[in-house]
Amino acid sequence: MKSPKIAGTSPIKVELEKGKRYAWCTCGESTNQPFCDGKHKPAGEYSPLVFVAEESKTVHLCTCKQTKNPGFCDGAHKSL
Ligand code: FES
Repeated sequence: MKSPKIAGTSPIKVELEKGKRYAWCTCGESTNQPFCDGKHKPAGEYSPLVFVAEESKTVHLCTCKQTKNPGFCDGAHKSL
């Protein structure tokens, strides 16, 4: 499996809504970062990380795709 594309070098602040479903892009190819737009499908190596927000809150979602806490920024972009 090739490494995911680095889609950005800083996280994107998102207001999650409790009970809403999200699909975080894992491949880095989406033009709708940090969310999946289906561009992972041709290569077939990646699939989005789908999750339902357990509470409404502000989060910072990863765009560099190097995070060890998938979906969420862990500061990994700072060492790129
Ligand atoms: S476009 Fe990247 S996981 Fe779907």
